[in-house]
Amino acid sequence: VEWTDAERSAITGLWGKISVDEMGPQALARLLIVAPWTQRHFASFGNLSSPAAIMGNPKVAAHGRTVMGGLERAIKNMDNIKAAYAQLSKLHSEKLHVDPDNFRLLADCITVCVAMKFGPSGFTADVQEAWQKFLAVVVSALSRQYH
Ligand code: HEM
Repeated sequence: VEWTDAERSAITGLWGKISVDEMGPQALARLLIVAPWTQRHFASFGNLSSPAAIMGNPKVAAHGRTVMGGLERAIKNMDNIKAAYAQLSKLHSEKLHVDPDNFRLLADCITVCVAMKFGPSGFTADVQEAWQKFLAVVVSALSRQYH
């Protein structure tokens, strides 16, 4: 993947403003609400019976922080995201059996949450272009170890 200087600075600039503790829980809760079939992976998390229950569930919040924090790895390895996620891809495929379509859905939930947070002045179209390209590379890297 080639990144322009503008894309690099848009991505690292946006990442620098993102609070993993705030965006992670929001994005994972949103995935569990808009794509309820993903709840099957989180049976041990307790009450997921309504949007309010999901948004108030501390295990969802904690795992949301883990997942969002997982993006730091890509930020730090922008020129080799595939290798950076080889192990995590294997884990999601071979051990967790997460359908890789769900990576894209989570990426979309992250984008929606970030867009709402930063609004029209922070999340401009060119920032969105760079950010979605970044997440697409992450999704592709996570899907690599599936066969
Ligand atoms: C675990 C990242 C998408 C389900 C993890 C972990 C990370 C992570 C860093 C912890 C791994 C460890 O403990 O070594 C990501 C990233 C994603 C993503 C960056 C996409 C952007 C998903 C999706 C699902 C999912 C879409 C399910 C629909 C899980 C589950 C675990 C896990 C069930 C294990 C939870 C536990 O029992 O602790 N993920 N993940 N992940 N992920 Fe993902």
